[in-house]
Amino acid sequence: MKNVNVIKEFDSSDPLKLDNTKSILDSFRYVKGRRYHNQTDVTYLLPNDEKEVHDLLKSGGAKVLDVGCGTGRWLLDMANEYPNSSFIGIDMSPIFPDVNHIPQNVAFLQHNLNDGLPFPNETFDFVFQGFLGNNVINKQWEYYTREMIRVTKLGGWVEIFDYVVDYQNSGPKFAKIMELANSGLEAKGINPHPETYVPQLLKNCQELSEVHFEEENIPLGNWAGQLGEMMVAYYFMSFNAFKLLLTSAWGVSDETYDTIYDYIRPEFEDFKVYFKSFRWYSKKI
Ligand SMILES: C[S@@+](CC[C@H](N)C(=O)[O-])C[C@H]1O[C@@H](n2cnc3c(N)ncnc32)[C@H](O)[C@@H]1O
Repeated sequence: MKNVNVIKEFDSSDPLKLDNTKSILDSFRYVKGRRYHNQTDVTYLLPNDEKEVHDLLKSGGAKVLDVGCGTGRWLLDMANEYPNSSFIGIDMSPIFPDVNHIPQNVAFLQHNLNDGLPFPNETFDFVFQGFLGNNVINKQWEYYTREMIRVTKLGGWVEIFDYVVDYQNSGPKFAKIMELANSGLEAKGINPHPETYVPQLLKNCQELSEVHFEEENIPLGNWAGQLGEMMVAYYFMSFNAFKLLLTSAWGVSDETYDTIYDYIRPEFEDFKVYFKSFRWYSKKI
């Protein structure tokens, strides 16, 4: 029988180098904190540690918390995919779906995160937070992160998912609008660049193992097909949601704000604009 618990560090200067000295007992090799297969005759290059979370949820009985869950869309997808685990969403605004229309393994709780998470230490196997960055000042981030780790079980996982309010390949008009949007957020004490502080927050936590990081490019515009078009709709929905904050920060009327769509929209196609989303995740040890 293979021993799956054997942990070996391999040559981190060449993570993909296959190791001929491996023991037949080693199912995995570990490079820079990521777990890979250890078959000498297979060239498959991707890590497989994320599977751990999926296995955990699939095996049943796992408890998952979504912090700042909003409408609960992530949680509902997860609850349907993993019917034998339980899912709790927490948000200060009760915009959750009707209790009669949710799967039995889901519950929602209205609660302000500034009062901490209302759960005992080490309650959850997986604690997730998505898209909170552009609403949270730095001091709160630190507190929320500590709370998320506190309620995670030993051996459980913490994940933060977010995006940067900054766009790649912006044209001059769009770049100007985003610069103004960012200064509006900064005036409220919000750093629109979660990638500059979230990893360090997690790395500073002694209770966490290696912080894993993944980055995706998300296109904005027809040039990228259906996904790009959906993201345009999402972008303008978010931009609209910031209307109250930004019209007051910029001192412009609602009508002027509404003209911005036509002003910047062509640049999405002309410059093939995209933005970046990030995932950081780590295991509590
Ligand atoms: C941008 S939405 C993201 C919602 C959800 N995670 C998603 O991806 O759809 C941010 C959510 O965080 C919630 N939120 C912000 N500050 C909060 C706080 N102090 N306590 C509880 N919820 C909060 C908001 O009510 C909102 O639903």
